[in-house]
Amino acid sequence: MATVYVDNQTYQMNPDENLLHGCLSHGFKLPYFCWHPALGSVGACRQCAVKQFKDEHDVHGRIVMSCMTPAAEGTRISIADPEAAAFRAGVIEGLMLNHPHDCPVCDEGGECHLQDMTVMAGHDYRRYEFDKRTFRNQNLGPLVNHEMNRCIQCYRCVRYYRDYAGGDDLNAFASRDTVFFGRHEDGVLENEFSGNLVEICPTGVFTDKTLKRHYARKWDQQFAPSVCTHCALGCNTDAGERYGTLRRIVNRYNHEVNGYFLCDRGRFGYEFVNSEHRFRHPVLEGRPTSVALAQRHLREKIANGTVIGIGSPRASLEANFALRTLVGPDRFYSGMADDEARLVGRMLEILRRGPVRTPMLREIEECDAVFILGEDVTNVAPRIALALRQSVRQQPMEIAKRLKIPLWMDHGVRDALQGAKGLLYIATPYATRLDDVATATFHAAPDDLARLGFAVAHALDSRAPSLEDFPLAGEIARALKAAKKPLVISGTSCASEAVIQAAANVAMAVKAALSFTAPECNTVGATLLGGNPLSDAFRAIRDGHADTVIILENDLYRRAPDSEVDSFLKAAAHVIVLDHLANPTTEKAELVLPAGTFAESDGTFVSSEGRAQRYFQVFVPQNDVSASWRWLKPDHWHDLDDVLAAMSEALPELAAVRNAAPPAAFRIAGAKIPRSPQRESGRTAMLANINVSEPKPPDDPDSPLSFSMEGTPDQPPAALIPFFWSPGWNSIQATNTYQKEVGGPLRGGDAGVRIFEPARANGQSYFSVIPPAFEPRDGEWLLVPMYHIFGSDELSLSAPGIAELAAKPHVAVNTGDLTEGAEVEVSCAGGTFRLPVRIRPDLPPGVAGLSAGLPPLVGITLPAWGKIARPK
Ligand code: SF4
Ligand code: SF4
Ligand code: FES
Repeated sequence: MATVYVDNQTYQMNPDENLLHGCLSHGFKLPYFCWHPALGSVGACRQCAVKQFKDEHDVHGRIVMSCMTPAAEGTRISIADPEAAAFRAGVIEGLMLNHPHDCPVCDEGGECHLQDMTVMAGHDYRRYEFDKRTFRNQNLGPLVNHEMNRCIQCYRCVRYYRDYAGGDDLNAFASRDTVFFGRHEDGVLENEFSGNLVEICPTGVFTDKTLKRHYARKWDQQFAPSVCTHCALGCNTDAGERYGTLRRIVNRYNHEVNGYFLCDRGRFGYEFVNSEHRFRHPVLEGRPTSVALAQRHLREKIANGTVIGIGSPRASLEANFALRTLVGPDRFYSGMADDEARLVGRMLEILRRGPVRTPMLREIEECDAVFILGEDVTNVAPRIALALRQSVRQQPMEIAKRLKIPLWMDHGVRDALQGAKGLLYIATPYATRLDDVATATFHAAPDDLARLGFAVAHALDSRAPSLEDFPLAGEIARALKAAKKPLVISGTSCASEAVIQAAANVAMAVKAALSFTAPECNTVGATLLGGNPLSDAFRAIRDGHADTVIILENDLYRRAPDSEVDSFLKAAAHVIVLDHLANPTTEKAELVLPAGTFAESDGTFVSSEGRAQRYFQVFVPQNDVSASWRWLKPDHWHDLDDVLAAMSEALPELAAVRNAAPPAAFRIAGAKIPRSPQRESGRTAMLANINVSEPKPPDDPDSPLSFSMEGTPDQPPAALIPFFWSPGWNSIQATNTYQKEVGGPLRGGDAGVRIFEPARANGQSYFSVIPPAFEPRDGEWLLVPMYHIFGSDELSLSAPGIAELAAKPHVAVNTGDLTEGAEVEVSCAGGTFRLPVRIRPDLPPGVAGLSAGLPPLVGITLPAWGKIARPK
């Protein structure tokens, strides 16, 4: 650490960082705009000025930008110096000349970094009396709103969008003294991480268009710490609600997982919670009924029938465990398709046995050579793609280090690197959105992808099973071997055990980290919890071993072919379903129980990293919606801690899940943690429009959070942070004040607990079953799944913004015999689908892609051989 003098007091600062970083880490209120912990410094806005002195005898000093000055040993600066303070106030006055002062109608108002910095810099009187520069705003699609007049030209947006996220359809367009930040023409922002502009932009230029539809100020919302439900990565979120409507999702910083950023599916997929297709009351035989009648019906069926339960990879551990307890472990079935359950089971065996270890998302950013085998990560596990766009900078960063350019000096580093990219090899059935930063790509059928993986492993270690040379194998092996932090990424997307085993062989051969993607938010948790195969549930009903089935948050038509599910549901005497939204399975149910979404319940998901993370109820619904585990729990479980205690006892390997967050009894100085921010107005009566006698806020027996603004003002443990706010810091930039060091871990440690680590440091033997090379067939196609960030996920498809952008179901082929857009009949896996064709020259010969997860292409097992024909 370096000793730095700030206004004649000594502070220890990280010498590899700049003074702004050091000052903010020590809690100084030093304003800034263009700097961001994830983007580094460019010195564009001049807002972070301080006065620097040569030594203790220097009384004049000079103005420097703290974000552009290293926190070197012995540095002397003053923040309070009158010239420095006047400089900062002058800069913001200049920035505010053209700013519209439309805070009362700006969605950013009250949580705006520009407002905070204006107050912090002391600019409090407006002298400018002339016309303001104005712009035409653009329609950027259904997710992000554009109001360009609010721009202060800090350049953060384009630096984030282009340099960090790899987008190329947003730019700065300049003419004389006018700079416009937007697209070259109106249109949907193409980058899958565009929603982060909402938090990156320090003003109200880019705001959340989904929030606009049901706007509420930050201080009028109540928040809870949550976990994204739209893929298996477990990004941390804060969810905000008012008057029973979920208003928005913002990023919840977790240094080890998502850092500062979410993907657009995760940020904007929340609106399914507000869908008109939600169940708000129990439905018995097609008619709404009371909770008492529904419970009586449930109890009768359990008492009088032979009941089985089907769990769900999108339901919490607690909900799955409650169902397992209700029906008994022998009658509890996995809610995943058999093949998927088997593959995820294999992945977990590999990770738990060792020696390879699964990395955190942050560690992925730090890897300097990466081999992706079989995964379209942008569409399956989006946040990994953003991490990989940072990892490809790791190896070239050595150039900057050799030139002694501080790594936080963003323009200097980028000039030195000249766009150089590190090593990223992508082997997938079709081209992916990350190919633009790949060193080399290889597109092939799953069996050939596996063969490439086996060949790479053999090139790395001759003890790994051998295979004839693949041209790319030697190059990939050399790159991984030379790397300091090699990484292999694979998963279930190709539905190929050989691909998973080949990836494991590579990781074992080079002692690389191994990251497996998984399909849904709690796929890993549900697998750890166990359950018999789904097909056995079908058999149990068909063979008369059971007559009643309880289905937990699961549309079975997405798990198995229609005909199988139809006959199963028909054969069951009683079908009881718990779910959020109407779907083909709930249509067949005798009784539907309205299940709380992540926003109306508490629970735990286990991410693909193996991290158990708790999400908390944001609001108490004004209807019969309740957490699934509450519908199913035995009488002697009273709250979430009781469920967790019972689960730890029944399944000791899941005992660590209890540590994912503090128990309900946790208090800070005897106080709970408020879900609502202190209101600027001081108004506490949220329901004054209905009745001025404000009712007592609901109790929360399940968590240390209160449903009000009453509680401790202190920083809670990371798992319990409902929103980021500190005095003077009303925007999301308040995150800085919760970290040990700006950009680093949260004080007290980041949220979540990893519940498995590799058992052994050495010794897993190599997998040896190498599939034969793929042989195309005459007149048939190998149909492989193609994933869509907007469309393949079930729940986010019910969010209007995501639905508008969702891919349309189609079949993709590489042949010129078919015409783009023409309708064809695709026959596979026992079904026939009429679909439009897309021509994709990147697909290998004999291989066609089918949209995954988009109705009607659900419930079919892919890859599968099929036929594509023009309709007669
Ligand atoms: S649009 Fe926002 S982020 Fe971009 S330059 Fe303007 S103020 Fe900065
Ligand atoms: S990457 Fe996955 S977990 Fe993260 S925000 Fe996106 S959908 Fe959610
Ligand atoms: S934050 Fe330092 S110049 Fe912009």
